[in-house]
Amino acid sequence: MSIVNAKEIMVEAAKGKYAVGAFNITDLVQMEGVVDAAISKKSPLIIQTSVKPSKFLGVDVLVAIYRTIAASAPIPICLHLDHCTEVEHCKKCADAGYTNIMIDASKQTYEENIRQTKEVVDYCHKIGNISVEGELGTVSGVEDQIKVSEDETQLANPKQAVEFVERTGLDIFAPAIGTAHGVYKTKNPKVDFERLGIINEMLNGKTIKTPLVVHGGTGLPEDYIKKLIAMGGAKVNVSTELKRTMIDAEYEYIAAHREEYDPGKVDEAVRASIRTAVGHWIDILGSAGKA
Ligand code: 13P
Repeated sequence: MSIVNAKEIMVEAAKGKYAVGAFNITDLVQMEGVVDAAISKKSPLIIQTSVKPSKFLGVDVLVAIYRTIAASAPIPICLHLDHCTEVEHCKKCADAGYTNIMIDASKQTYEENIRQTKEVVDYCHKIGNISVEGELGTVSGVEDQIKVSEDETQLANPKQAVEFVERTGLDIFAPAIGTAHGVYKTKNPKVDFERLGIINEMLNGKTIKTPLVVHGGTGLPEDYIKKLIAMGGAKVNVSTELKRTMIDAEYEYIAAHREEYDPGKVDEAVRASIRTAVGHWIDILGSAGKA
């Protein structure tokens, strides 16, 4: 029951009008903090890694840790590869045991985006129990190796979105709607809620076939998140906040215990701070008690 793909838990979320948090991690301690929070809140969970940590730590190592942790967890957990621009790396992660793969060919031409996305979808579906996420339009900001400036930002066209999903066979879909990676520069970022609602109606109006993903969770006001969920967002990605939480916790602990050379205590401080941050997200997303 514990190892799941993203689509199956997102379909339930979309039906129940809540969202599953998808939390980026870069190491074991962060992964444990995220899992602790989801278990204590009885929430389904998506653990994400960007491409860089998957190459640095090793895909097989990450999958082995995920499987070990998920095997004894009383909640469904998915391991997701985030924003991968390389088809071959997507396939490698699928082979190793990631259960959701995001091929991000959104910076390519429309036709090339379709071609690459479909190639990954076909590959993953042949393996089985892996869902695939694709993106149309571009999300501004920096995520791992992908950088999109604000004037390059392009929102997803609803009609094209439906065609994109149909032609690729995608399982879950991330339309660009104005949310951004990193920290928002204004208190009220310009997010096109209506566009998400229209795309959701066109794709999932009768039955939920292709649940929607919201990128750029860090810094979004709580009322925005609630509205995005009401418009069909069933997965909300959070990365920058957790990186900051981790580094701040390490820094604060070390600054306060400068003479103590005990790495385990630093790890404990990080794990606890991640647990608190993720628990807060789970409450906002409404996924507590849904596992
Ligand atoms: P943030 O870094 O803004 O939280 O965005 C995360 C994200 O969308 C990862 O795909």
